[in-house]
Amino acid sequence: MSEIIGNGAEAVIERDGLVVLKRRPVKAYRLAFIDERLRTQRTRREVKVLKKLSSTNIPVPRFISSDDKECISMSFLEGQKLRDIFTFEHAKEIGVLLAELHKAGIVHADLTTSNMIYSNGKIHLIDFGLSFFSEKPEDRACDLHLLARALESKHHEHFSRSWKDIIAAYAQTLPESDAVLSRLEKVEQRGRNKQKGKE
Ligand SMILES: Nc1ncnc2c1ncn2[C@@H]1O[C@H](COP(=O)(O)OP(=O)(O)O)[C@@H](O)[C@H]1O
Ligand SMILES: [Mg+2]
Repeated sequence: MSEIIGNGAEAVIERDGLVVLKRRPVKAYRLAFIDERLRTQRTRREVKVLKKLSSTNIPVPRFISSDDKECISMSFLEGQKLRDIFTFEHAKEIGVLLAELHKAGIVHADLTTSNMIYSNGKIHLIDFGLSFFSEKPEDRACDLHLLARALESKHHEHFSRSWKDIIAAYAQTLPESDAVLSRLEKVEQRGRNKQKGKE
């Protein structure tokens, strides 16, 4: 018996025992040819990244199969969404995890605590449909920036303390972190200027 465990804007997530099926159904509000391209592209990206990460120590679900179009099956991670349990105690682990991901040449591009699952004593990353391969400081900085905004809005009470620890662990783990962190300052400045423009 399978059950639906997630039904977001883009994907339906079904669990059947130890297996999860992630399906990107047709979105009728998009032009058909664009919809088809997006669904295929995101499915393929996710598969590519899951496969690449399975050869590293970065905790992710195990890839099982895909139709190369709209469906991926992967292992079910028993545990909790980090979103429901996050405190500053997870910060160091997140910083190391992101540095390792960037070292592997991957930018996640949708870093939130809903895309992290605490399972088997470790934080696992999921949801790689927007991910891409890049080692550019700008792309890495944007990844960090998105996470900062997500933490600030969903985990406000833990934000300042955890962010310091995330960045410290990231800097210790990624040798070329200086370039990323100075980029991050520029990205954040850009964000502040945009905000001011709106006021
Ligand atoms: N491999 C998995 N193991 C356990 N739960 C999962 C797994 N993949 C997805 N989920 C659950 O489904 C939710 C949505 O999956 P996700 O891949 O993030 O898709 P979406 O693009 O809809 O955000 C996740 O937040 C998580 O709760
Ligand atoms: Mg998600």
